Amino acid sequence: VVSWLRDLGTRVEVDRVGNITGTWPPDGFEPAVLVGSHIDSVRAGGRYDGALGVLAGIEVLETLISGGVETARPVAVASFTDEEGSRFPPDMLGSLVAVGGMSLEEALDVTAPDGAVLGDELARIGYSGASPCLLAVAPAAYIELHVEQGPRLEHAGVPIGAVTGVQGISWAEITVSGQANHAGTTPMDLRRDAGHVAASIATYVRTLCDRLGPSQLATVGRIELAPNLVNVVAGSAVLTVDLRNTDDDALAEAERLLAVRCAELAADEHVTITTRTLARYAPVEFDPEAVALVEAVSAGLGLASMRLPSGAGHDAQMLARVCPAGMIFVPSAGGISHNPAEHTDDEYLEAGANVLLRCVLHLAGAVTP
Ligand code: GLV
Ligand code: MN
Ligand code: MN
Repeated sequence: VVSWLRDLGTRVEVDRVGNITGTWPPDGFEPAVLVGSHIDSVRAGGRYDGALGVLAGIEVLETLISGGVETARPVAVASFTDEEGSRFPPDMLGSLVAVGGMSLEEALDVTAPDGAVLGDELARIGYSGASPCLLAVAPAAYIELHVEQGPRLEHAGVPIGAVTGVQGISWAEITVSGQANHAGTTPMDLRRDAGHVAASIATYVRTLCDRLGPSQLATVGRIELAPNLVNVVAGSAVLTVDLRNTDDDALAEAERLLAVRCAELAADEHVTITTRTLARYAPVEFDPEAVALVEAVSAGLGLASMRLPSGAGHDAQMLARVCPAGMIFVPSAGGISHNPAEHTDDEYLEAGANVLLRCVLHLAGAVTP
């Protein structure tokens, strides 16, 4: 990404948390129209989640530059660090730091379950940059192209999503401490079984969805038992809970009910349970004019569009704190994402990139379109 941005002649900057930008023209320091996304991926992810928005942004810049298009405002492409957050939580870490929502020091100290420290890893790969804060000047606007990662556009047969906002996200890491003991000799009523408690929490979060309705989502994506052996009652368990809801009050209620259930389990099963918040974001609404722009541009290109909220978190929700922000979605085959099988047909990638280009031309004020 950096070499492509350099080859285009943009002004390339890397900030201290590894966020990358390329700005055109290189001497443009006024608030830019920013596009972009992320190039990190979950460990078993696909090739479109994030990368599409960065590559399409580079394509937009290349189109402007090769076409000699002048714009009233600079145009910049960003690749934000650690959008996924599954190794170094929270998600959207790089864009969160860029908008001032997390201190640089706190971000660089984030430690992964494997013991790696974010600041050390950035230095190791050469992306502990020199720019103090990427967004010292707030952008004029931010538009992000991304794959939908869900089934709605494909089901509707619509190529473009005008994204209205992002649902609330709550991530917790729960640690259960019991006592490792012999599986054959320990009577059931004397066990302090961390594995059983972890499984109880995993099934309990499903019941929250029945109770709070279809807008409530709940996932236990990681459970680690120790010592993790066939004939040993688990002495400890670490599991993650991902709760999401478009309604912040309902999300808070899900968090409260989970805490109550954990307290009951701790008492009943004679274990201790501690909870660490990994991420907590309220639902975000995108700028109504940005949503309308995506629709209008799509119609102008003869592309059907529909409004929809995002189920996944995105850097755009952080940028929405400092500037008008919006997103363009394109369909994901089978609604599959966070999976190597993730796929979007070329015709949709091209359609999304053209919508992005037209949004940029509108927002940046093309002098010679
Ligand atoms: C980030 O991609 C998330 O929604 O988990
Ligand atoms: Mn993404
Ligand atoms: Mn993702």
